[in-house]
Amino acid sequence: MPQLEIVNLKASYGGQTVLEDINMAVEKGETISLIGPSGSGKSTLLRVLTGLLPPISGHVILDGKKIDYRNKAQVQELRRHMAIVFQQYNLFQNMSVMKNVTIAPIKIRGRDKKEVIEYATHLLERVGLADKHDAYPDELSGGQKQRVAIARALALRPDIILLDEVTAALDPELVNEVLDVVRLMASQGMTMFIVSHEMAFVREVSAKVVFMASGHVVEVGTPEQIFDNPTQQRTKDFVGKILRH
Ligand SMILES: Nc1ncnc2c1ncn2[C@@H]1O[C@H](COP(=O)(O)OP(=O)(O)OP(=O)(O)O)[C@@H](O)[C@H]1O
Ligand SMILES: [Mg+2]
Repeated sequence: MPQLEIVNLKASYGGQTVLEDINMAVEKGETISLIGPSGSGKSTLLRVLTGLLPPISGHVILDGKKIDYRNKAQVQELRRHMAIVFQQYNLFQNMSVMKNVTIAPIKIRGRDKKEVIEYATHLLERVGLADKHDAYPDELSGGQKQRVAIARALALRPDIILLDEVTAALDPELVNEVLDVVRLMASQGMTMFIVSHEMAFVREVSAKVVFMASGHVVEVGTPEQIFDNPTQQRTKDFVGKILRH
């Protein structure tokens, strides 16, 4: 049974349909990457999945249980399983790194403070920031901030993590330190949705690649299928364009 199944999702902004006929299934521990041109709906799909944008129609099935996005309690339950990290880290500027990572699990989820701090300490170590507990966001580099944002998402103990272009705002030399953290999560069996323009990375970590265009899933396959042997003309055009860069 897939951990998450997406069934006929459709979404729109102000009457304009931006996602339609979205269907896919994700197995536990799988990394699935969404690629496609700007405006194809990748971020919107992550927003819909996490309940930030209610879909027009469609639903997901999480661990065999249907989640209706119109049902608030079900969406809340869904959100307990997921965490999303955006390109702009959105850290709380007036809080230390430790506070940034621990505030939601303690205040929103009501978890035991000592336990949360212990786990946060472990996470900050894993993302290479063991010495930055007391630093404030404006004392950190972009790559360090992004790693705090990832630790903050992991502190919620999600089963599924969604990463929306987490390296896009970074200087090239900082990209790898963030990708290393993502590689680590992938190797430890976290289920991940990744939106990224780092095609070499997508190829390396993904079990499946989903090529999207104009709000539709055009093609789904292994990285080899999508990058080396795409079957759809739109995929061929896109892959041909990006690989020439
Ligand atoms: N808040 C919004 N209000 C209205 N339209 C939006 C909003 N956000 C996105 N859109 C539109 O929805 C469509 C899909 O946008 P989305 O951000 O999901 O694309 P994307 O694939 O993530 O693109 P990019 O690679 O540039 O991040 C686009 O046509 C975009 O203009
Ligand atoms: Mg986007």
